[in-house]
Amino acid sequence: MNATKIEALQYQSGFGNRFESEAVAGALPVGRNSPQRVAHGLYAELLSGSAFTMPRDLNLRTWMYRIRPAAMHGRFAETPVPRWQTGPFTDAPTPANRLRWNPWAEPDAPTDFIDGVVTAAGNGDAHAQVGVAAHVYVANQSMRRRYLMNSDGEMLLVPQSGRLRLHTELGRLDIAPGEIALVPRGMRFRVELLDVLARGYLCENYGSPFRLPELGPIGSNGLANARDFLAPVAAYEEDDGPVQLVNKFLGRFWQCQQDHTPLDVVAWHGNLVPYKYDLAHFMAIGSISFDHPDPSIYTVLTSNTDTPGVANCDFVIFPPRWLVAEDTFRPPWFHRNVMSELMGLVRGVYDAKAEGFVPGGISLHNCMLPHGPDAATFEKASQADLAPHALKDTLAFMFESRHAFRPTAQALAAPNLQPDYDDVWKGFSRHFERR
Ligand SMILES: [Fe+2]
Repeated sequence: MNATKIEALQYQSGFGNRFESEAVAGALPVGRNSPQRVAHGLYAELLSGSAFTMPRDLNLRTWMYRIRPAAMHGRFAETPVPRWQTGPFTDAPTPANRLRWNPWAEPDAPTDFIDGVVTAAGNGDAHAQVGVAAHVYVANQSMRRRYLMNSDGEMLLVPQSGRLRLHTELGRLDIAPGEIALVPRGMRFRVELLDVLARGYLCENYGSPFRLPELGPIGSNGLANARDFLAPVAAYEEDDGPVQLVNKFLGRFWQCQQDHTPLDVVAWHGNLVPYKYDLAHFMAIGSISFDHPDPSIYTVLTSNTDTPGVANCDFVIFPPRWLVAEDTFRPPWFHRNVMSELMGLVRGVYDAKAEGFVPGGISLHNCMLPHGPDAATFEKASQADLAPHALKDTLAFMFESRHAFRPTAQALAAPNLQPDYDDVWKGFSRHFERR
């Protein structure tokens, strides 16, 4: 197999154990997971993404057949990564305010993906495996002889500008704005920039792994279809020489040197895999009669809690779509929610705001804080004719969580924090007439 070609396999939910790839023919054992001697002199190694005894349809694990065991590394020593923070988020009081940020600035110095992560807000506790962190990344350099493993959570990348090539233990994935990718907890990888600058969002999920939401009465098709999730084919690196392995562990970063690449997996099988998904494949569903449905119909992936229907985090998108419904205010209505909402914008304009929410920026509406369209959007939408309206060239998304997002001190002090976001909801005219 051509090791430089980027290929992908279909990722299937509920796919059992029949998911496999080998970069060298015959490397995958047949009929057993850890034979006494693996073909081609490889080592067998298991990576578990769930407790061994999780129910079968939730169980995540992958067998790797590699040139050297992952255990072959030296002692970790702490290394600073100052802008990447981890829950619990207690370094600043959480304001009872709606907040919005412009995009974070481009770095002045060479900055790779790890150093380019800036934590905007988060919740929960990595140690308790509860909650998420919402970061942005702004990088201008590939990770060079440097690899990351995140012991604190899986990582959902949402590029906003610039393409990335993710080199992972299981193979390579290319992603571009409009696509997402997920790297499982603990999997080793490096990020190569395919453009001069890479900017995007990152959801670090400490809780249960993201999976497709149940469809209920929608049926067996729709929203994000399992067949559109792609996993890499096996591809391994062979260049030996000193490399740095960074382990994010309980909020701190630890590094060690090793004399060979950690991406030396020649074959694998299992269902704990990195994957990518093109958000253009999302089948949006909406009203064909009246009223604006709840935004949960736009859920791409969900991280469950022990309470059914209450998410640790939902990843929700607002993609290009047609809007029409009879006698209906079609932008998002005014609302207050028990769930907390952190939004980003990949491209275009979000239909609830006339201006101020820009690609690369963030808006945060925490538990019970009232929000909704701005005055200009309200007036326009209230006068809209009953006719199909196409929302084109727009892609907003939301990390929605049962836990309020706590902005970090660095985000609250950031020059790109908008001081006047509340003004969005100034200027609503009084239309009330008693008779
Ligand atoms: Fe909302």
